Amino acid sequence: MTIMEKLDAKLGNAVSAGADEIFASDVLEGLSKARKELPCRWFYDTRGSELFEEITSLPEYYPTRTEAQILTDSVAELSRLAGPRVAMIEYGAGAAVKTRILLDALETPLYYAPVDISDAFLRGVAEGLAEDYPDIAMRPIVGNFLSDLDIPVELQTAQRRLGFFPGSTIGNLSDAEITAFFTRARQQLGEDGMLVIGADLRKSPEILVPAYDDAAGVTAAFNKNLLVRINRELAADFDLERFQHKAVWNDVDSRIEMHLVSEVAQSVTLLGRRFDFVQGESIHTENSRKFTVPGLQALAQDCGWRALSVWEDPQKLFSLQMLG
Ligand code: AVJ
Repeated sequence: MTIMEKLDAKLGNAVSAGADEIFASDVLEGLSKARKELPCRWFYDTRGSELFEEITSLPEYYPTRTEAQILTDSVAELSRLAGPRVAMIEYGAGAAVKTRILLDALETPLYYAPVDISDAFLRGVAEGLAEDYPDIAMRPIVGNFLSDLDIPVELQTAQRRLGFFPGSTIGNLSDAEITAFFTRARQQLGEDGMLVIGADLRKSPEILVPAYDDAAGVTAAFNKNLLVRINRELAADFDLERFQHKAVWNDVDSRIEMHLVSEVAQSVTLLGRRFDFVQGESIHTENSRKFTVPGLQALAQDCGWRALSVWEDPQKLFSLQMLG
């Protein structure tokens, strides 16, 4: 099976099985591994999304505000490159502030198509924007951006299609997933399509580690909320006092890793099954990769994308790239 087929099989299953079952099977599978892990996409229940919002305004967490500033500074040029009457497709929608900066600057955009796995979430996003942008047709697309998406045919009546993938969400993906994403995006956006992508950059661990282990403990609460969710939704009994949030810089793989570390030897019951932890054993909950501009461009180029423009903040903390 190719990587693409594996992804399809996994994500295809996911759609037909229903979110609850996939959550259960992901958690059981992850905790059964020799090195325990949980997929980071399950962070975002209602509480998790609230906590992430809080993270974005923490003094230590530079990515969100830096990216918004870069976008504000580059949006006129970006909009010139994009041209008039585009259909904008936002992958992993919900970055309302940045979406508006872009929509405000584009020349008579025709469509806004946010992509997300949650139908209800998408309806909220589309409704929120519809009021302020009466001339842009809202076309939410339910689906996972790593798999085949049903792009409405009418979007092809736009002059060009512009993909938007902000927030360094790409940093959660493996190389194989990034390649799958770039390949899909090329198919969805077309040969003359464009892709604007935000990516966090490599930098000193002295800046990186506090960004993922803030003084106020919001990131710790965000990480532990995954256990709260598992306790509630999967009849589990994780003792939150006995797991500790940890953020570590992995230089070889160029990523921040988040872990939940068992402070003592303990057992946890989940859906009637027992999982044992030795003291100091960790559950790996997230990778947040930090890129170099040429590194990400090389991955994109392998999938048929060319670099059109790159914008960075003066401190080179974060990058915004336009590919075509
Ligand atoms: C939403 C994946 C971009 O990796 O910085 C923030 C998630 N995790 N703090 C990131 C996150 C902990 C965030 N992304």
